[in-house]
Amino acid sequence: MAQPAVLFFWFLSQVAEMTVLFRCSEFQRLESEVAALRKQLDDLAVVVTKNRDAHLFPNGRSVGGKLFKTDGSQGSFESSKATCSQAGGQLASPKNASENAAVQQIIARHNKAAYLGMNDIQSEGTFAYLCGGEIGYTNWADEEPNNAGGKEDCIEMYLDGKWNDRSCTERRLIVCEF
Ligand SMILES: *[C@@H]1O[C@H](CO)[C@@H](O)[C@H](O)[C@H]1NC(C)=O
Repeated sequence: MAQPAVLFFWFLSQVAEMTVLFRCSEFQRLESEVAALRKQLDDLAVVVTKNRDAHLFPNGRSVGGKLFKTDGSQGSFESSKATCSQAGGQLASPKNASENAAVQQIIARHNKAAYLGMNDIQSEGTFAYLCGGEIGYTNWADEEPNNAGGKEDCIEMYLDGKWNDRSCTERRLIVCEF
């Protein structure tokens, strides 16, 4: 008859083996779950991209993670700002040449200039983003900004993508970013 100590160690080795088997099957289960999730994510990415492209056709553009879009309506700076924020975005505020080109393509298509978000309402001569912070990228037209008549606190984008400081009360194409 086996010694109790031998039996005890045999028992321990059985437990260890079962633990390894269990861990293996658990690992395989997780692996196949991860594979299934990965496939779902890939499928979802295709759907999201399709939806984005459909939404952007024909009045929007995407750059990096940003979407620019117009609803085709026009308004003053304040009403454009309100329209965009009600839609869950903000007035287009291009921060580099690609973003500027995206907005330019939209306004060229509609043949109308648009207000941008940046302005110097707070502090004359210092143009800032809607959320504060002095602007970095600029694309001023020649001789701009000139604050003509002492009351040009907003920025309009011309059809060629260049910027002009302009009074905030004109009617311009509303282009939002999301
Ligand atoms: C502009 O910024 C976007 C991110 O919003 C980025 O994807 C893009 O490459 C940038 N383009 C340039 C010319 O810096």
